[in-house]
Amino acid sequence: MLNIVLFGPPGSGKGTQAENIIGKYGLKHLSTGDLLRAEIAGQTELGMKAKKIMDKGELVPDEIVVGMIEKRIVSEKDPEGFIFDGFPRTVKQARALDEMLASQNTSISLMISLDVDREELINRLIKRGKDQGRSDDNLETIENRIRVYEEQTTPVMNYYEQQGKARKINGIGSIEEIFIHIVNVMNEK
Ligand code: AP5
Repeated sequence: MLNIVLFGPPGSGKGTQAENIIGKYGLKHLSTGDLLRAEIAGQTELGMKAKKIMDKGELVPDEIVVGMIEKRIVSEKDPEGFIFDGFPRTVKQARALDEMLASQNTSISLMISLDVDREELINRLIKRGKDQGRSDDNLETIENRIRVYEEQTTPVMNYYEQQGKARKINGIGSIEEIFIHIVNVMNEK
């Protein structure tokens, strides 16, 4: 199985590139942001709780997102592999993911980190906020999402570096160019 963690700050292109990767490699896309937004759309109790946290740009508790991912991993029959988008976001989540995959006799193959500067992240997310109206794409929440990423999520990079699995890619340029770099890194595996 090919299991990829797609990593990077808010707006770095994780969701965009995950779509390209599943198109080429047939992996199952698991985005905790998308799973949480589906709970919000379904007006579930979990969704209502998560919305308040997401609209502030804070992280939803580890237990909730780990439980959501575990349910998907266990229910998938004979997958080619998974692409994790927006998960793990804390070292606790990264450890839990390693344990879940080990229980399925598999492991993370590679972590690809998209490197994009702060100004570009803010421009992209403000634009999406105007075009699509995602409720956390406003300047105040975007700035907090970036702060939370720097404080709570960047240690995850170190976690995968220690395992020799982290690869950094320049996330600025056309979507096609960035995808070519991702494919090159994946082909080294
Ligand atoms: P989540 O949905 O994961 O949002 P995020 O990490 O903030 O990421 P985005 O979706 O904003 O950006 P992206 O990197 O996927 O970029 P995209 O391809 O969309 O999480 C939302 C919230 O849910 C979190 O704040 C948290 O509260 C909660 N949450 C989720 N997971 C959690 C977890 N594991 N633990 C705890 N809480 C969790 O692109 C962004 C924009 O840029 C798009 O408009 C796109 O078209 C454009 N774009 C993409 N590539 C390019 C390019 N190369 N050039 C120009 N524009 C581009």
